[in-house]
Amino acid sequence: MYIPFVKVLGIESSCDETAASVVEDGRAILSSVVSSQDEIHKPYGGVVPELASRAHAEVIGAIARKALDGAGMALNDIDGISVTRGPGLMGSLLVGVQFAKALGYVLGKPVVGVNHLAGHLCAIHLEQSVEFPFLGLVASGGHTSIFRVEGFEKVRRLGSTRDDAIGEAFDKVAKLLGLGYPGGAIIEKLAKDGNPKAYKFPRAFTGKGSLDFSFSGIKTAVARKVAEQPGYSINDIAASFQDAAVNAVVQKCVKAARLEKLGAIVISGGVASNSRLRELMKNAAEEHDIRVLCPSAKLCTDNAAMIAAQGTHPLMRGYSDPPDMNALASWPLGD
Ligand code: KG4
Ligand code: ZN
Repeated sequence: MYIPFVKVLGIESSCDETAASVVEDGRAILSSVVSSQDEIHKPYGGVVPELASRAHAEVIGAIARKALDGAGMALNDIDGISVTRGPGLMGSLLVGVQFAKALGYVLGKPVVGVNHLAGHLCAIHLEQSVEFPFLGLVASGGHTSIFRVEGFEKVRRLGSTRDDAIGEAFDKVAKLLGLGYPGGAIIEKLAKDGNPKAYKFPRAFTGKGSLDFSFSGIKTAVARKVAEQPGYSINDIAASFQDAAVNAVVQKCVKAARLEKLGAIVISGGVASNSRLRELMKNAAEEHDIRVLCPSAKLCTDNAAMIAAQGTHPLMRGYSDPPDMNALASWPLGD
């Protein structure tokens, strides 16, 4: 069955944001509500899984209601529900998946579980038109991967991190510098007044032919520098670390786009809101006539509009997941 015009309720709870959104035809955002748990996790310098799932359970009903109100819709006006099935924190994912399945059952509406990374790759379609195929980067707190994106449901992974995600590296460096959580935006701000060439940190390369990353070495090098040099400039450390981390991603993306003969790079994930990453990516790609497309910052970080958009495509094909669909803490995309 093909459904021509669809309004999909998206639900996202894979990590530390509870989000709901209504998206029409996979392109138009009618509402998007995000409830952040940053204040809850701040004292611990990272996400505490048990606290995250409890907080999701407390607010998810109200957030979904707010998204429907924002779109001027009643529950019965939605055509289907799209929920993040994985990857992510199991307890957090379960809150969203069980909520979506219960709502679908009560309303008699189809429910589809989507991959969180596919959601990030889909965010761009909510703001700009981009033709397939393109090179997609997901750079977030939990993931750093590059994909050949051939269609909404056709993706091939070209490389990913072998240890920490790039956002995780930003968060860990911020923690060791005593800057607070989440660290990405704080480091970006400090780096604006720093010299990126002040300190030499290792680039996150993993061998010549490889498109994989490794970020644990940069984090260790920052820790060593800070211990060795008590009078360090925090702005210079931030700028030098940021350039080392971001450059690794930029160089691998451009290399992969050239190898795959792709004319566009689409960036996504929380770290894709980093202005230095955007600037360096554009500079490096332009040299090879490759376009760089960036969703706005609010669509780079976790949100449910991207999940609604991604789920629209299987729903439009008439696909829905069975009632025993479960959350998947690990769910590789494009292998
Ligand atoms: O996509 P996201 O909201 O959640 C995950 O799926 O992980 O990404 C969150 C990550 C955090 O690690 C945060 O420090 C990082 O994105 N981040 C940034 C910036 N804003 C958020 N990293 C670097 N620069 C930023 N401006
Ligand atoms: Zn994410």
